[in-house]
Amino acid sequence: MAAATDPMLKAAALAAGRLLGTAVDETALTNDPQYRATLAAEFDYVTPENATKWGPLEPTASNYDWTHADAIVQFARDNQMAVKGHTFLWYQQNPSWVSTSLSASELQSAIKSHIQTTMTHYQGLVRAWDVVNEAVDTETESGYKDNIFFETLGPDYIADAFRWAREADPDALLFYNEIGIERVGEKSDFAYQMLSDLLAQGVPIDGIGFQSHVSTHRYPSDTDLRANLARFAALGLRVNISEADVRDTVMPGSAEARALAQRIAYQQITAACVLEPACEGITLWGFTDEYTWLQQEGDFNPLVFTRDYQNKPAYQGVLDGLRGLLPKRGNNLLRNSDFAAGVNEWTTNAGSLSVAAASGRDGNAACVDGRSAAGDGLVQSELLNQLSDGGPFAFSAWVRADMSSELDASLLIAEQDKDPREFNIATTYADAGTWVELSGYLGLGFEATPLSVGLKVYGPAAQVQLCVADVVLQPLTVE
Ligand code: G3I
Repeated sequence: MAAATDPMLKAAALAAGRLLGTAVDETALTNDPQYRATLAAEFDYVTPENATKWGPLEPTASNYDWTHADAIVQFARDNQMAVKGHTFLWYQQNPSWVSTSLSASELQSAIKSHIQTTMTHYQGLVRAWDVVNEAVDTETESGYKDNIFFETLGPDYIADAFRWAREADPDALLFYNEIGIERVGEKSDFAYQMLSDLLAQGVPIDGIGFQSHVSTHRYPSDTDLRANLARFAALGLRVNISEADVRDTVMPGSAEARALAQRIAYQQITAACVLEPACEGITLWGFTDEYTWLQQEGDFNPLVFTRDYQNKPAYQGVLDGLRGLLPKRGNNLLRNSDFAAGVNEWTTNAGSLSVAAASGRDGNAACVDGRSAAGDGLVQSELLNQLSDGGPFAFSAWVRADMSSELDASLLIAEQDKDPREFNIATTYADAGTWVELSGYLGLGFEATPLSVGLKVYGPAAQVQLCVADVVLQPLTVE
């Protein structure tokens, strides 16, 4: 049974020199002919969504159930598709016998045996493996995820896993895979340093997967995502977008507006990979809404095909992204954004505001002095009319602080019968005195009738001068 419309994704990915993949649900593969037809027609890279995780593969010690994983690998072979195995060590879906009852040496033996048995079984059939998944958690004191491996073995489990994997199959590519590191920020910084240190120790890591489970509510701008992909690539790593899906549940307005915002998000993420030379492929975390994991989270619409396999606007987003086309940006919605009219249209919620020629940049900048807290900064109010349709929007500004600082932008939102709230739309870091771009994409969701919306740029500690130039907030479109 053919896919609902002529398949175009795989050919576009091939033309872009990129792998185009999807997570594969083994039940759907077995039971749904249209799932199989669409999968074979549109993709050339498969990641078993669950079948190659430790629990499904080795439910009891040394007793393997290859059934579901073999079915996916065989389907890939029959359809000339590559396979990425997913994932050896993660905090979820481990078998019950992998528990704190194991001593450190028993757990090490279990890990080594699982990795090497599985990679031997699939030798020559699996292009790459997610060896370690989501090992970073900046909420913990160590910065590492408190999974059973870290708790029993400490962080060395990561290097050991990659070394044992390389021993098992020297030809397989070995990936580290992480969630929530698409933007430059604390978590991606920790992952970057961790991988840099491991590579410096000679640990065999070939690539990194940026999962990209995002929402139209807020996701990295193309410049932010590309800068982040590029810095990991500069470590010598292959880069993958490894689990992309886009929730649209926050957006207000019509289904069409939400579908357009979702299309733009897919376009931007896919284009970022096509425009970054070290990004070898994009894998969607499923392709039809019928089988998305996000149903578990109450979201039923994150993928590129409807439940009955009709192309969604998101499909066109992936297609445009594979052609290297970034979303278009409309007119700037902010007033006096280059400060040509001095401080007109701008205020500050503390301290003093002045405008002068921006040292190190063309044109003027607005500087705020005498700030009494990190949340104090440059403000433009009365943006409700410009932003009330919800977006999507692209924000960017050039920012400088007199001390190395985190830099942020937020929308200040007041809604009927609700407490005022600040919706962070961009975060980055800057060394003292350097101009950096602060940017992000966003879609606005309102929890009640919106009364006012303002923009604030802030971040550095109290008493640190903050300067801002070229502040832009633009609608994102496809035409
Ligand atoms: O296979 C059992 C079935 O026998 C049982 O009847 C059923 C009801 O309990 O559960 C089935 O297992 C479920 C499995 O998906 C297969 O459907 C698990 O409960 C369920 O937790 C599991 O969810 C998966 C989730 O990872 C947790 O492992 C999702 O499908 C999968 O999309 C999701 O994917 C993860 C990536 O591996 C890592 N990155 C994050 C991503 C989203 O959480």
